[in-house]
Amino acid sequence: MPVTPFKVTDNYRYLNGFGGYKESEAVDGALPLAANSPQKCPYGLYNEKLSGTAFTAPRDENKQTWLYRILPSASHQNFQPVPAESSQSLTSPTPEFGKHFNAIPNQLRWDPFDFDEKSTWIHSLHLVAGAGDPQMKQGLGIYIYAAGTSMPEKSAFYSADGDFLIVPQHGTLDIRTELGRLLVRPNEIAVIPRGIRYNVSHTEPVRGYILELYQGAFQLPELGPIGSNGLANARDFQTPVADFIEDFSGDNTWTLYAKFGGNLFSAQQNHTPFDVVAWHGTFYPYKYDLGRFNPVGSISYDHPDPSIFTVLSAPSHAHGHGTAVADFVIFPPRWLVAENTFRPPWYHRNTMSEFMGLIGGSYDAKGAGKGGFQPAGASLHNTMSGHGPDMQTFEKASNGDLPPAKVGEGSMAFMFESCLMLGVTEWGLKTCAKVQESYNEHSWEPLKVHWKRPESERGLSGREKRNGVGDARDGSSVHDIK
Ligand SMILES: [Fe+2]
Repeated sequence: MPVTPFKVTDNYRYLNGFGGYKESEAVDGALPLAANSPQKCPYGLYNEKLSGTAFTAPRDENKQTWLYRILPSASHQNFQPVPAESSQSLTSPTPEFGKHFNAIPNQLRWDPFDFDEKSTWIHSLHLVAGAGDPQMKQGLGIYIYAAGTSMPEKSAFYSADGDFLIVPQHGTLDIRTELGRLLVRPNEIAVIPRGIRYNVSHTEPVRGYILELYQGAFQLPELGPIGSNGLANARDFQTPVADFIEDFSGDNTWTLYAKFGGNLFSAQQNHTPFDVVAWHGTFYPYKYDLGRFNPVGSISYDHPDPSIFTVLSAPSHAHGHGTAVADFVIFPPRWLVAENTFRPPWYHRNTMSEFMGLIGGSYDAKGAGKGGFQPAGASLHNTMSGHGPDMQTFEKASNGDLPPAKVGEGSMAFMFESCLMLGVTEWGLKTCAKVQESYNEHSWEPLKVHWKRPESERGLSGREKRNGVGDARDGSSVHDIK
């Protein structure tokens, strides 16, 4: 399925712009003027503060939103653990730190993950890989979701563990959040911050990828010498407007699911959680159309590091300046014009871990088709695990002509890159049954030796060594093998 950028937005209404203070009211006058917490809120609403950072976080990092709603979110029955056999349970709960994650240095690649016609959103969240611990608010989790049916209309889900960065690969997600509605299509992404309650519905099976960020928040990367525009432009991010339901019938027909410390809980409540009539603040969900990304690249020789394609970045100050606990990077359609250059990515070992997925089309550095890097599949090149173009890609790219060429047309590959070593869950390694056992055997073991020793720099061939020619003990002068 080729991926094409959207030229128009969908039919929901949005507030444009990345970050900053926003406000929205579904009923005129629902936001109090000046006071955040008046003795009586307009129209008999309750106010509630939703804090996404510590109260005292610096101004430019502070994320707090005031909600004006029909009933406060605290009004629900006790949470109970969701039994593992429930059709709503998490299929692969977050492993406890140091346990169950398989940290292995092999390069991993997965065939496309299956659709699951029977699952709804929550049950379809398959934790594939991760690092750290949501209880310590450190690290991240990577999920594959594949749901066949919508969440029940009177249900809502939130994760106390982190922010969800959702990357749909197939099917449109209709997401009703407390703060408003988002339609998220393949080639778009959405971020739903920690704690915000939402319901996911869809008219066809859906499938995609999620990065859950246990620490910090995504921000736009600095642009440095690129200047004030480029890559993902701030104005193209879209935040929903306030939109609410009136359902406070009194019977406990609403089910609220919470992912809390990696485990799932549910509680009943007698009113809809989607009753926010107005809100203002800096903590809210948003979406972005990847087709609007403005790539920058080389116009002479070589190509810049793939960080040039960063859409969003969540810094980890503990790991040093410029280091991210999670970068979201895309490989969009673009022109390659560099002369005398090996144009695919170079061979690489990285202290950062690289988890890649493919939304559609084919990625220019890897063979496509069955057994290759396919849409809805994935790969993981962990800390210091070597990777790069496969044999066929190398041979083609190092021998072909180099006219200006458009690559990635109709395609969108992406990378979740992290400074953390990623572990793989049992589901990711075994249960899903999608790991390509011969990934390395097909990709890099067949790489040919092109090395030819220059005549003037004669060293010892293996045969000469065996014949004793040039043995240092007989005093002959030879160069060491370099
Ligand atoms: Fe790499």
